[in-house]
Amino acid sequence: MVSLQKSGTGILAVTAVVAVAIAVPLTVNKNSPENSNLNAAIQLLEQTPLIDGHNDWTTSMRYSLNNSVNEYTLDTDMREYYTPSHTDIPRLREGRLGAQFWSCFVVCSAQQKDAVRIGLEQIDVMKRFIKLYPDTFEFVTTADGIEAAFSRKKIGSLIGVEGGHIIDSSLATLRMFYDMGARYLTLTHTCNTPWADASDDGYPHNGLTEFGKSLVLEMNRLGMLVDLAHVSTEVMKQALSVTQAPVIFSHSSVRAICDVQRNVPDDVMKSLAQNGGVMMINFFPNYVNCTDNATLSNVADHFDYVKTLIGADHIGVGADYDGIPRTPEGLEDVSKYPYLFAELMERGWKDEELKKVAGLNLLRVMREVERIAREQSDEGLLPNEEFINPVDVKENPCRSGF
Ligand SMILES: *[C@@H]1O[C@H](CO)[C@@H](O)[C@H](O)[C@H]1NC(C)=O
Ligand SMILES: *[C@@H]1O[C@H](CO)[C@@H](O)[C@H](O)[C@H]1NC(C)=O
Ligand SMILES: *[C@@H]1O[C@H](CO)[C@@H](O)[C@H](O)[C@H]1NC(C)=O
Repeated sequence: MVSLQKSGTGILAVTAVVAVAIAVPLTVNKNSPENSNLNAAIQLLEQTPLIDGHNDWTTSMRYSLNNSVNEYTLDTDMREYYTPSHTDIPRLREGRLGAQFWSCFVVCSAQQKDAVRIGLEQIDVMKRFIKLYPDTFEFVTTADGIEAAFSRKKIGSLIGVEGGHIIDSSLATLRMFYDMGARYLTLTHTCNTPWADASDDGYPHNGLTEFGKSLVLEMNRLGMLVDLAHVSTEVMKQALSVTQAPVIFSHSSVRAICDVQRNVPDDVMKSLAQNGGVMMINFFPNYVNCTDNATLSNVADHFDYVKTLIGADHIGVGADYDGIPRTPEGLEDVSKYPYLFAELMERGWKDEELKKVAGLNLLRVMREVERIAREQSDEGLLPNEEFINPVDVKENPCRSGF
């Protein structure tokens, strides 16, 4: 086991290190022709916020650090303290990350048990590390907030809640997560919930139950992004037909390239384009290449595929750093995002397309989701007071019946 790295010196020393980290550029030989794209990619990401849909750093903090962020210096190279170890402040700066949905993830074994508590603890640790490093991070909940933080050279930090079991089948609990700042809910993780099927867990509901459909509409009313990563194909289709606002896939790749249920099939992508949503592409080698090994070029193939099928308006980046045990060669950690953009430039993508992929698509989706919520509020639509049918949660010994 690694020894503790005590920060001891407090916020002032921390701030000085951040300033140095920001000033250190990605090492690039400006005269070498093969690096001209890399320089252009870095410039592009300095003008347009790169918004990544999914990063599990908070999960690493839980598993590796017991959420004791006070004890560590996150603005130094943290590789020896995490497994996996794709994220720390110096590497986030090197990778020119503009904004991040930090995944507040709850493991499926907590379903019907203490999922709500663990979800709260993960939001707590996220909010605490954001506060500890105010020169790097800014907590945000809106598209305007992301842009304002970016203009101040802060990494806009949003909460994405991963795993529908975190709300214990309660719309009131969903609303309270929204009030805490959560701006997406991934409808399932790898387990079915009592109201939605996961990608690989037997499909007991053949999609969404009526309660699951009510939940999608309640998320529309709140202005919370519906995240269809991890759900079954039927849930993707039914959610797309029920939703009144654009949806996202926070970390999903192309099924036509790698045929796993976690990836998005072509017909769903076409519905996503009509819905106006965005699919943020996952870097996990097993979803990218269907093997334990993948390269940056394999990842770029997924971007090319989606652009050819539905256009650049519906693509984003959802790398899943710290949530995946292996990464592609060339995209090892959060410092590498500019290399992906350089590769796409090499493949003929236009700057306007790459700005959309980096962040403008997600900003468009958020603004539309926010607008629809305002509209429904103006129309006087009230919170949905429906409870799940007790029969659907009868296996839960923790439900008191109160
Ligand atoms: C986390 O907590 C467990 C159980 O209390 C303990 O065994 C472990 O050493 C702790 N790890 C760290 C990194 O603090
Ligand atoms: C996996 O990568 C290899 C090497 O780049 C490539 O030949 C193969 O087509 C890829 N397979 C998939 C499913 O992407
Ligand atoms: C594939 O990845 C595994 C695990 O990361 C590694 O041990 C193996 O050498 C790799 N194989 C190839 C062909 O690169």
